[in-house]
Amino acid sequence: MKLFIDTANIDHVKEIASWGILDGVTTNPTLVAKEWKDGSAGSPHAFEHAVLAMCELVPCVSAQVTAEDCAGMKKQGEEYARWHKHVVVKVPMTTEGLKALKYFRSKGIRTNTTLVFSLNQAILAAKAGANIISPFIGRLDDAGEEGMDLIKDIMTAWEQYHFDTEVLVASIRHPRHVAQAAMLGAHICTIPYEVFLKLPNHPLTDSGLKKFLEDWKKVGKKL
Ligand code: E4P
Repeated sequence: MKLFIDTANIDHVKEIASWGILDGVTTNPTLVAKEWKDGSAGSPHAFEHAVLAMCELVPCVSAQVTAEDCAGMKKQGEEYARWHKHVVVKVPMTTEGLKALKYFRSKGIRTNTTLVFSLNQAILAAKAGANIISPFIGRLDDAGEEGMDLIKDIMTAWEQYHFDTEVLVASIRHPRHVAQAAMLGAHICTIPYEVFLKLPNHPLTDSGLKKFLEDWKKVGKKL
């Protein structure tokens, strides 16, 4: 299972990458705006620089196109792809997006289809050639649905048809989502920084380590 971080904050990418377990980054326009809401982006190339810095740390960095028509998506996506070979072009799940996915596949440009909320959308994106699809679990939960049921349905369909498209569980809200995604065999989870920080912790690990260190002091030796 691959673990990605869902952020546009380079320091957060650096920190989690330093753990030795990070496989990729997903960004989106909201996450980018959150980092640069005060206008500190400065140069028009700030996003490019941020993506490039992330590409030096991990092999897969999703950068989302903001054009709404296929021609605009192609132009923007091709530019992103020129920045670095680790860039994956993130395309929204629309009919224009489907056309763009097909084009990017023919050009060997990797893609991630975002805003997937149904199995039918997942199938269309896979057939159009998406390398990754991103079903948004937390937003379905927020809307009163069971987000993880969508992952179950997608993984069941994937077993029947052997699509080579990887299923990335997005819109993760808490550590339980990560464990559930793993039990369902999802290929990738993209995890917010705050949730990542919770993953290594368990109260029994803390109390167990405290006891080990107290007992070691009783030995009275230094190694
Ligand atoms: C995925 O690529 C998206 O950036 C992200 O997971 C969206 O999550 P949200 O519902 O927390 O905005």
